[in-house]
Amino acid sequence: MKATASPAPPSAPSLPLVGDAFAMAGDVGAFFTRQYLRLGPVFRVRALHRRFTVLAGPEANLFVTREGSRHLRSRETWMDFDKELGAARSMLSMDGAEHARMRKAAKSGYSRSFIHEHLHEVIAITRREVARWPLDEPIPALHALQRIVTEQLGTIAAGVSPRDYLDDMIVFVRTLLAARVTHQRPAVLMRTPRFRRARQRVEELFATVKAAHDPDNRSGAEPDLVDDLLALHHVDPQFLPETDLMPAVLGPFIAGLDTVGSTCGFMLYALLKHPDLLDRMTAEADASLEHDTLTAEAVRHLDVTHRVALETLRMYPIAPAITRTVANTFEFAGYTIPAGENVFVATTVPHHLPEYFPEPERFDIERYTPERREHRQPGVFAPFGAGPHVCLGAGFAEVAIAATMATIVHEVELALDPPDYVLKISPVPTPSPDDRFRFRVARRRRAAEATSGTGDPPSERATPTPG
Ligand code: HEM
Repeated sequence: MKATASPAPPSAPSLPLVGDAFAMAGDVGAFFTRQYLRLGPVFRVRALHRRFTVLAGPEANLFVTREGSRHLRSRETWMDFDKELGAARSMLSMDGAEHARMRKAAKSGYSRSFIHEHLHEVIAITRREVARWPLDEPIPALHALQRIVTEQLGTIAAGVSPRDYLDDMIVFVRTLLAARVTHQRPAVLMRTPRFRRARQRVEELFATVKAAHDPDNRSGAEPDLVDDLLALHHVDPQFLPETDLMPAVLGPFIAGLDTVGSTCGFMLYALLKHPDLLDRMTAEADASLEHDTLTAEAVRHLDVTHRVALETLRMYPIAPAITRTVANTFEFAGYTIPAGENVFVATTVPHHLPEYFPEPERFDIERYTPERREHRQPGVFAPFGAGPHVCLGAGFAEVAIAATMATIVHEVELALDPPDYVLKISPVPTPSPDDRFRFRVARRRRAAEATSGTGDPPSERATPTPG
């Protein structure tokens, strides 16, 4: 379709040469919210020598949900990321029918019901990790939580413990995202010896996961996500060729790192700053974890925990926007957005608008009571993105966050270190608590031998010693 003449969307104020890059480099979500309030639901920004059209507000989220598969394309956003993993495509970079097929293949392994079936392991892993935290010493929060969630996901969805690979995985994924997806860092970082070593280790992990799923090693094992993907590869090797296996198979090791890990970090900070909420959540966790495990039913009833998690996802979204390319020209809010245009859908702008979330800067879990249900207004709550690529693991993530955080507060009493620490958000590659966010274990709430005696699950014994 040929673009019709229509007025150009208004532009955000920008500096010569750098455009809006500086303004966007800090809190990009706050920048988009300010521009939405000034300019409305469509505006242009300039960054990285490129022009982007930003779509924002509930109307943008509803549009992407309804029309995204027709008008928007993901390929350009993710293809360079895939390339670094030796692949031509992945679920994130696919569009249309092939994307729907890939999503279907991975749906069961990333589902809420899959984690429900593995809650016992999720809790055992959390307890084991918490038991390793020293008493009264500063512990970097993000890393401690990334360790727990990546261990959970890797173990249950891919049958291999990523423990010995965690630091390399973090370097690899975060550098790649910053250099190839968000473009906040120069590509030259990928030539450093540290990055190269990380890449080599990640390739090693990939080989380990594939070997662990050799049919000879799987007799009697419950199929996991990797089994499902390898089955698709065998049935239709043209659709999922060997060369595209790496991003798919490593998904469980990547998916939780900067998402569940950062969200649990933000949630922990909010709890430590709101002792009343921490007390309520601890009482709820103590009642539910009486027998050191949780059933799916018990997770569903972690009411305070879920509401703290929802408010964390609203106030501290780890993905304030998604990037797309316009595949087919469309009209939005009175403007024509032509094919080929780079687009940001600023999905979380409504999170900060008082007409939907009164006093949006206040951490208030009462928003989610049945009487208020502020997040249920159409298009206003989108921490998991919107449209055809909306997070496939959202249900999984909600359960993982609730089970992990409930177990932590049940096991230990934590304190900020230093006590007056004020959160700083590091924007690269996605918003996360900064490295100075540390906590200490003020007290173990239960006998140490009860928390440390769970033993290693069988999957950990499959992990090779690092070379
Ligand atoms: C707080 C936790 C999480 C948040 C906020 C989150 C957010 C997101 C967002 C915003 C997207 C869309 C990306 C885009 O459109 O370009 C996405 C995609 C995705 N997420 Fe999550 N995610 C979380 C946890 C997880 C977990 C735990 C898993 C796996 C169990 C997962 C699996 C996926 C997958 C497979 C996709 C790609 C979907 C597709 O391309 O169709 N996510 N996530």
